[in-house]
Amino acid sequence: MNSTAIIGGTGVTKLEGLRIDRTVNSETPFGPPSAELVQGDYCGREVLFLARHGDPHRIPPHRVNYRANLWALRAAGATRVVAIAAVGGIRRDMAPGALVLPDQIIDYTCGRSQTFFEDDLDEVVHIDFTEPYDASLRQQLLDAGRAAGIGVIDGGTYGATQGPRLETAAEIARMERDGCALVGMTGMPEAALARELELSYVCLALVANWAAGKSVRPITMQDIEFQLARATANARQLLQRLLCA
Ligand code: HPA
Repeated sequence: MNSTAIIGGTGVTKLEGLRIDRTVNSETPFGPPSAELVQGDYCGREVLFLARHGDPHRIPPHRVNYRANLWALRAAGATRVVAIAAVGGIRRDMAPGALVLPDQIIDYTCGRSQTFFEDDLDEVVHIDFTEPYDASLRQQLLDAGRAAGIGVIDGGTYGATQGPRLETAAEIARMERDGCALVGMTGMPEAALARELELSYVCLALVANWAAGKSVRPITMQDIEFQLARATANARQLLQRLLCA
């Protein structure tokens, strides 16, 4: 079975349009995933859905069991993963409401379980992570955006922070100097773990707010929710075009 898996981020706990065949309560060598896996049919294709923060949303980014999530998806037949993630915009064109397909990552997280390759190894493994996202799946999503008339920003470096607090203005200024266009809390180790499992993985980033210090307005949950709802509606259309084309 070669399924497409959708990992839903903040604001996306369900995949509309999915005709659900079954839900699976998985166990993995790393414990249970964030929620039950939803398996179903979307435009005649086998699709899996997993709510990264649980359903209802209750697991903060630093507590997500990324290893269990990816392990469970692969065990259920996923070969490619579209990971939806809320982010803050750092670069000027990354305005709230935008959809972005980042092409690079800088990892600022700490203390997360970030590899499958640590115990009982026959040999030490170092995966190639030069290009952290799958080029072909990124292109398919860009093409889907073009076909559906939905603006998707092509590229940008995703800076992954530990959270759950938002950043200081100085932290964002440093990330900007490092070359980050976006900031989010869930992009790592998820992307690296997907590569370790040889899954084709992309991040579909939904810009929820200007990052700290990038706007005179304070960052409120209310604004974040409003912008996420806007971006999520476009993300759903994009996924429909990807899966139904
Ligand atoms: N920082 C980190 N993660 C986020 C943000 C942010 O400003 N907005 C949404 N996720």
